[in-house]
Amino acid sequence: MRSYLFVPGDSQRKLEKSLTSGADCLLIDLEDSVSASQKPVARQMARDFITDARKNAAPDTPGLVVRVNPLGSGMVEDDLAAIVAARPDGVLLPKCEHGADVQNLSALIAVHEAEAGMAEGQTDIHALVTETAKGTLNAGTYASVSDRLKTLSWGGEDLSADIGVETNRDENGHYTDLFRYARTVTLVGAAAAGVEAVDTVFVDFRNQDGLESECRDAVRDGFSGKMAIHPSQVEVINRIFTPSDAAVEKARRIVELFEQAGEDAGVLSLDGQMIDRPHLKQSLKILERARMAGIV
Ligand code: COA
Ligand code: MG
Repeated sequence: MRSYLFVPGDSQRKLEKSLTSGADCLLIDLEDSVSASQKPVARQMARDFITDARKNAAPDTPGLVVRVNPLGSGMVEDDLAAIVAARPDGVLLPKCEHGADVQNLSALIAVHEAEAGMAEGQTDIHALVTETAKGTLNAGTYASVSDRLKTLSWGGEDLSADIGVETNRDENGHYTDLFRYARTVTLVGAAAAGVEAVDTVFVDFRNQDGLESECRDAVRDGFSGKMAIHPSQVEVINRIFTPSDAAVEKARRIVELFEQAGEDAGVLSLDGQMIDRPHLKQSLKILERARMAGIV
């Protein structure tokens, strides 16, 4: 999936608008965008929203993922009790600090799946892994923790607060080293765990050029999608994370080349370039993304 749009769970208006935003996936938020007093309302609204979306399911219904409150907040049990039975596609865990947190969340979800008569493992997990210093250091701990785990993403705002930095960008608008590090360990951690890496939000939501350039950097560096905070960001993200016709065509040719060369093929050549197995792996990824984007 390319675009993941955050929607505050206590805003009926935004929830309604989000369904026609074109986002591949909605991140219905029960955490930072919802005040403490609104949490019970947001849980109910999220549950009703997902239940309705399941009733009126259409081919273009986006993925429905709920961002719960962090483990240890004392709120995650109530969040799960409200939403798991409505059958969201997944749960996004903020301030995740270790692969063990994903295992703990998985066990909590399993109880609610059982109570609702659902198959165990039906609910995916997505994890935000660099929102604390500890989480950032542990980004390499996600391999083989749970079959539920589908993506890792990173966040800069909470990490700023945890470490006490004044600003996360330098005078040219580029992320400072700490945030480039968090972004990089997320990419490496996700690849090591065999899951997708999703780039963090771009908060300056009226700045389309800035968003576009950040999306291009993310595609270049291996992210498969990006989170959004405003519907106007979705079109840009979808466009830039959809592989180009030229990239799809090249990927097809590489896959065909390996098919023709047979099982034992090692190194091959295409248009005067050396092509080996990492190129095949990369090409299969591009074709999978093109399929997900509905262009092949
Ligand atoms: N999802 C769905 N609809 C949204 C939306 C979102 N994330 N953000 C804005 N909209 C809607 C607004 O309701 C508005 O519709 P309306 O005019 O019919 O009421 C329209 O899009 C235009 O919104 P705009 O006026 O440009 O923005 P705003 O000032 O109302 O809201 C934010 C700005 C940042 C508060 C809002 O985009 C938002 O709530 N984003 C998500 C925040 C979040 O979840 N953060 C947690 C993760 S970091
Ligand atoms: Mg946060």
